[in-house]
Amino acid sequence: MSGHLLEVDGLRVEFVSDDGPVRVLRGVSWHVDRGETLAILGESGSGKSLTAQVIMGILETPPARISDGSVRWDGRDLLRLPESGRREVRGQGIGMVFQDSLSALNPVVRVGPQIGETLRTRLRLSRSEARARAVELMRQVRIPDAERRYRQYPHEFSGGMRQRAVIAMALALSPGVLIADEPTTALDATVQVQILRLLQTLQRESGMGLVLITHDFGAVASIADRVAVMYAGRVVETGAVRDIFRRPAHPYTRALLDAVPRADRRAGRLAALPGQPPVLGGETTGCAFRFRCAAAHAACEEREPELTEHAQGRWSACHMGKEMLAHVPADS
Ligand SMILES: Nc1ncnc2c1ncn2[C@@H]1O[C@H](COP(=O)(O)OP(=O)(O)OP(=O)(O)O)[C@@H](O)[C@H]1O
Ligand code: SF4
Ligand SMILES: [Mg+2]
Repeated sequence: MSGHLLEVDGLRVEFVSDDGPVRVLRGVSWHVDRGETLAILGESGSGKSLTAQVIMGILETPPARISDGSVRWDGRDLLRLPESGRREVRGQGIGMVFQDSLSALNPVVRVGPQIGETLRTRLRLSRSEARARAVELMRQVRIPDAERRYRQYPHEFSGGMRQRAVIAMALALSPGVLIADEPTTALDATVQVQILRLLQTLQRESGMGLVLITHDFGAVASIADRVAVMYAGRVVETGAVRDIFRRPAHPYTRALLDAVPRADRRAGRLAALPGQPPVLGGETTGCAFRFRCAAAHAACEEREPELTEHAQGRWSACHMGKEMLAHVPADS
């Protein structure tokens, strides 16, 4: 037993199609503890949101099937808990800001009561208690003039303020871990920075764990402690952000870093990589990245590399991981 607060281990998910199972998660493993921020990085379709859906227990099965792995919360496997136990963890243990979160607000209900709703249904607070706590939550996410804003409708809020309200909803039950799935994509650049700073502040104030799903290198560099890089339904590299930025141990991570001009590395988004994105399907052999990898060799076709610790705290799923770590770039 590892003792991590939230730990995804060897998670496998497939969808049934006419051509057989489509394996979309092929052994995802990562963990987060209180007081730290884990960034999950990877191009579109790599399985970032799907992993979060499994954790929150909202993946529809069928059509999906969880074929292996575990999601441990405080030592208990959520995938084996009855629904009542899972519901308790959802929200109270783990809060979630969804990828399309701005649509999470009901346009015809005032913002404050929407935040208070969870408190009434889950904590059975009275109307006035829920109101007071909702205003407090709005202050916590730095919505100015919270008393007045409580009575406004979502359309009276700017995009950034709406996102703050959505974050307040996710924090309503004081979760130990907050998962934020692309919390800034729909916002313009300056507001993105404000929301990221807010998440960082909230994480520090409450001591919760934060899982930040993102395409944004700037976000990763500025607020995460550790990063898990996903490719084709697997974590292909994980470790401390500063180590990985200085010296990646997987050619995919290196390609992602190289695709961002150096001067912009702390503020850039992932550029498209050359080559075809992986086609997810049935049984595969070899490394899924080999068709785009300059370092591919015979072993890469024969065996899929395991996620391996090549040096202290430096995990990657690449046959060349050790060699990559031995090579320290001249400018570091
Ligand atoms: N209901 C479904 N049926 C079949 N395939 C699905 C379904 N939902 C998701 N997928 C597939 O699972 C894979 C992972 O999707 P996921 O949404 O986790 O990607 P993501 O990494 O979050 O991407 P993005 O960065 O675009 O949000 C994708 O290839 C997607 O097409
Ligand atoms: S295992 Fe081989 S193909 Fe895959 S990333 Fe490493 S070197 Fe490239
Ligand atoms: Mg997603």
